[in-house]
Amino acid sequence: MIYLDHASTTPVRPEALEAFLRACEVGGNASSIHATGRAARRVLEEARESIAATLGAEPAEVIFTSGGTEAANLAGFGAGRAVRALDKKASVAVSSIEHPAVLEAARAVGKRLQILQVDSDSQLRVEALGALPPETGLISVMWVNNETGMVQPLDAVVAAGHAYGALVHSDAVQAVGHVPVSFRDSGLDLLSFSGHKIGAPVGIGALIAKRGVQLAKTSYGGDQERGVRSGTLNVAGAAALAVACAAAVSSREAEAERLRALRRIAEDSLVAIDGVRVTGVGLEKSQRSPAIVHAVVEGVDADSLQFALDRAGIATSSGSACRAGVQEASYVIEAMGLPWVRGGLRCSLGWTSEAEDVEVFSAHIAGAIAAARAAHN
Ligand SMILES: Cc1ncc(COP(=O)(O)O)c(C=O)c1O
Repeated sequence: MIYLDHASTTPVRPEALEAFLRACEVGGNASSIHATGRAARRVLEEARESIAATLGAEPAEVIFTSGGTEAANLAGFGAGRAVRALDKKASVAVSSIEHPAVLEAARAVGKRLQILQVDSDSQLRVEALGALPPETGLISVMWVNNETGMVQPLDAVVAAGHAYGALVHSDAVQAVGHVPVSFRDSGLDLLSFSGHKIGAPVGIGALIAKRGVQLAKTSYGGDQERGVRSGTLNVAGAAALAVACAAAVSSREAEAERLRALRRIAEDSLVAIDGVRVTGVGLEKSQRSPAIVHAVVEGVDADSLQFALDRAGIATSSGSACRAGVQEASYVIEAMGLPWVRGGLRCSLGWTSEAEDVEVFSAHIAGAIAAARAAHN
């Protein structure tokens, strides 16, 4: 199988698996006071320290969660509720292309939701930041969009957010390991990320929340993790997350060069096909994730195109949500103001990607598009 769907889940790195298994052997519950519990706690706290060091944060700022969705919910819903508890009129602003984990959490906070628009390459229109209501209390803009791979102008978001006196969150699930990420240097108040996008197993992630930032609980129970995220701690997951995160970040620069070269091969084959618009090709390299190729293909349904590629042994995605196995129209392509909202194609690269993967894709893509167009007509 040619695997071009790393942005959905990337394979577990061997060193992360090793850390996971070693932590499983320690056993115990990190909240227990006996020696086994203390040993588990030690593994957990070492993982917390390592993640903090890797991502430019303080250990006390790292809150372990079950993944990106829960971390983003804790930011969008937990911080949103806390902000509203202090000021009933406070409003929340999010970009129109946020992952549902942020969009739906922000919607759940209440009525005062502002949507920030993007341009035809899915980059935030920064001028919209100046027109928010003065009572804006929380702004959430993702670091890298999961469908298109576009890097968002976070410096402008942070500056505008803080001028309103608002908290600023960024969903960095698709950023860590692909673009430089330092929580401290970013000026963010909240940052979420996920393990299975960087080579840890599914089921672990974290929210980094600046000291002093108030969060309302999103789950009730034993009050682990700063009292806002209850549930027995996933020590083995945390150990694997720390190792995967260190590996992804330390290899990032070399990997970015390598993946950009692979991305070019896939994009060259796409731009040569009529009726295919490759997103962000004219932008500077710092404005795009090196790991994501995105195109909007006229006259196809994303699922037919994926099936056609799958028949050739190539795993891709549309990048947009799939509910009960049915491909939805992409609200990201819609927000970009483009037609063919069902014609999204995302090829995403990762640490196991090789030139052969994109060469096989390039050899098959024209035929797969022709087959999907025939099915559409
Ligand atoms: C940008 C973004 N945010 C959040 C998530 C959700 O992360 P998780 O699958 O760890 O819950 C994803 C997963 O696809 C994502 O791409």
